[in-house]
Amino acid sequence: MPSFSRHFFYIRMNNICFSNFGKASLVPSPINQMTAAFSKDFRQGIDINLGVGYVNDETIPHKELQECFQFVLQHPETYKNALNYGSADGSENLRRAIKEYYSRNRIGGLTADVLSKKKICIGANGATSLLDSIAEIMPKGIVITTDPNYYIYIETLQRKGFTICAIPEDSDGMRVDVLEEQLKTIDTESISFFYIVTINNPSSVVMANHRKKQIVQIATNLSRKLNKKIPLIFDKAYEDILFDTSVDSPISAMQYDEDGLVVELGTLSKIIAPALRIGYAISDNSDIMNVLIQKTSDIGFSAPLINEEMASRFLDVYIDEHARRVRLGYKQKADFLRESLNKELGQYLQAYSGGQAGFYFYLTFKNVETHSQSAFFKYLSRTTGDAQIDGTPKNPRLVYVPGEFCVVRNGLSYRLGLRQLRISYGFEDLSILEKSIKLMREATEYSLSLQ
Ligand SMILES: Cc1ncc(COP(=O)(O)O)c(C=O)c1O
Repeated sequence: MPSFSRHFFYIRMNNICFSNFGKASLVPSPINQMTAAFSKDFRQGIDINLGVGYVNDETIPHKELQECFQFVLQHPETYKNALNYGSADGSENLRRAIKEYYSRNRIGGLTADVLSKKKICIGANGATSLLDSIAEIMPKGIVITTDPNYYIYIETLQRKGFTICAIPEDSDGMRVDVLEEQLKTIDTESISFFYIVTINNPSSVVMANHRKKQIVQIATNLSRKLNKKIPLIFDKAYEDILFDTSVDSPISAMQYDEDGLVVELGTLSKIIAPALRIGYAISDNSDIMNVLIQKTSDIGFSAPLINEEMASRFLDVYIDEHARRVRLGYKQKADFLRESLNKELGQYLQAYSGGQAGFYFYLTFKNVETHSQSAFFKYLSRTTGDAQIDGTPKNPRLVYVPGEFCVVRNGLSYRLGLRQLRISYGFEDLSILEKSIKLMREATEYSLSLQ
């Protein structure tokens, strides 16, 4: 073949006409770029990763899951064709087991009677796939969410062409006074849906029940005014690991919902194991659920059936005791870290949240910037250019999630985000966590010394 035509062929092969979403996905998100750069030469046992949202490996019930696997395969009369294709809406055993887990533990205050009228569908690949499906089935428009926001999903929504209206939060969750003000300024006809994380990621702020009720009320009034239902998606990913017993138990948003706007999303990732990839939606038996099920079918059915059946067995037999152990484990880590934070960083912080649920602390510094160009960040990534600080080979590095990635660019919380960061204490053990707070103190003092 003449080299000319090879060249021609080569050029054509590079000119794929991507969709707008495809084009926007050509470049990895800023957070993915940051973590990829870090993990490329991550040194196990030297560098510290408080950036990833991994659960505590020690809470994963290996032995019980082995038993569940065997039990499922040994009882085909209950768990039919467990190694075959599953269905679009999920295993009947699992949907029943989730309802029983909820009613036995009064999760969300939901009774067996209320739950019997609700529909559950199981996602293809965790709650993440259900979130993705929601973005596919809803019209492009405005998504109302909280700042700081669940940056992974919000970034996906932006790539898909949604506009984000992020409402700052206080210690009870999304501020309804700001929400009401914003609703006067935006084109409410263009609102696609609300997305609210009830125990927020990154901040771990637990949404107060009265706040949840107000938000349902506001969305209900708005929907009635516009004469269309605006879905309210409540993401409950961390509700299974609420360990501060002084906090009121979350009430399900469905309890406040008169018009069938609420869809709640749950996951077994945090309380059992992320690798099961079991996420689920609960709502009325409504159009949105049927459309979600069709979408799940389109992308390859609900989670692998064997995982669904194992999860159903786990929920039937082990979950109640296991959940107590998991909560206790996270509580011990949170208490330890809180003490260390107060001692080492307290004087430099304007505020912090976390330590009641989930496994994140979210810090707001008084006057230290944390973004990826800041002195603080450079100190911890050992890129200051000062040989003594950076070291050869490099001194221990620490990765965290800078607040700049968790707030909407140029939104109401943007400037604040530049002084914030999330640390995850799920994965690393206590001695590493202690060391990392000391490193952050050094970075803080370095940053202040340059001001
Ligand atoms: C707020 C939030 N929603 C959803 C998820 C995803 O859960 P899953 O593992 O079920 O996809 C996460 C995971 O970290 C999360 O933080």
